[in-house]
Amino acid sequence: MSGQPKVVLVTGASMGIGRAIAAHLTRCGFRVFGTSRHPIAATLDGFALLQLDVTDPDSVRACVETVLARAGRIDVLVNNAGVDLVGALEETTLADLVWIMETNFYGVHRMVQAVLPGMRARRDGQIINISSALGRAAWPFEGAYCASKFALEGYTEALRYELNIFNIRVSSIQPGFFKSNMVHSQRLAAHLIADYAAPRQRGIALSRSWSDAAPEPDPVARAVERLIRARHPRLHNPIGLEAVIMPPLTRLMPARVLFKVGRWMLQLDDWRADLRRFAPTTLVGIAAALLAAAALLNRKRRP
Ligand SMILES: NC(=O)c1ccc[n+]([C@@H]2O[C@H](COP(=O)([O-])OP(=O)(O)OC[C@H]3O[C@@H](n4cnc5c(N)ncnc54)[C@H](OP(=O)(O)O)[C@@H]3O)[C@@H](O)[C@H]2O)c1
Repeated sequence: MSGQPKVVLVTGASMGIGRAIAAHLTRCGFRVFGTSRHPIAATLDGFALLQLDVTDPDSVRACVETVLARAGRIDVLVNNAGVDLVGALEETTLADLVWIMETNFYGVHRMVQAVLPGMRARRDGQIINISSALGRAAWPFEGAYCASKFALEGYTEALRYELNIFNIRVSSIQPGFFKSNMVHSQRLAAHLIADYAAPRQRGIALSRSWSDAAPEPDPVARAVERLIRARHPRLHNPIGLEAVIMPPLTRLMPARVLFKVGRWMLQLDDWRADLRRFAPTTLVGIAAALLAAAALLNRKRRP
């Protein structure tokens, strides 16, 4: 097997991050199979494009069998296929939750179970799950998506322990915002409630504007390549500014401050009004502290 290019299967490679990963790995010389629920051609950007719906067990089985028949093995599985759902959690029905978990979580489990017998028999393989910065720090009106990615993070961590004895390496990548189709194809929660309309719309507008201004997903593709080439791939791999700063910030910043910043961003509170309100108190506090320090110094200097 040495000398032969590694065989990589990337789910959800018709667009966005998955397409960037599959195209980059193809350019690097790997033998890449990408997937789409509705493939428009047999190849895309030089990689083979197979039919796959991760919510359908028959489709999962057929896809993995096709790769095994054509390439003989799967060295690396990149679980990238994912969907998004926006809305307050009270607006999110159980059917909505099942819908998002079917792709973002159960879909990953179906793929993992389908490739593992081959990897385990060869005592070699690698699984890379594309999670999210929102899998490590939550954000309002994305609660269902966060739940699916937090679940994926726990799953990935446990899987890493279990597969270590078979020389199967497991990692997750947490991208921040990168250009893709996701925010434009996201589903709205089914049970909309008027009370949430204004902040929900602001939340959606905010994430759309971040996504529109986001960079191309090439750094995520290069991170996957690094993990494949690494002797000891890391478990957590945050990529992008938000992903790197958000999780430590949520741990280090006092919860009240973090909450306030979130409310400013969603325009639930007006930061100018808050500053005006807090500024006099803060100035009085600083003046009082300076006066107290001066009084103390003065007393020490006296004979
Ligand atoms: N973009 C970001 O800023 C960002 C940030 C953090 C994490 N992520 C994660 O990155 C991954 C890719 O997202 P993206 O932003 O590139 O989104 P995208 O542009 O919407 O691409 C999603 C991909 O998933 C595939 N897909 C959706 N449902 C599927 C299903 N049931 N079975 C198989 N394939 C399915 C789609 O393929 P077809 O429609 O052709 O089937 C498409 O190729 C997701 O897991 C997402 O959560 C993205």
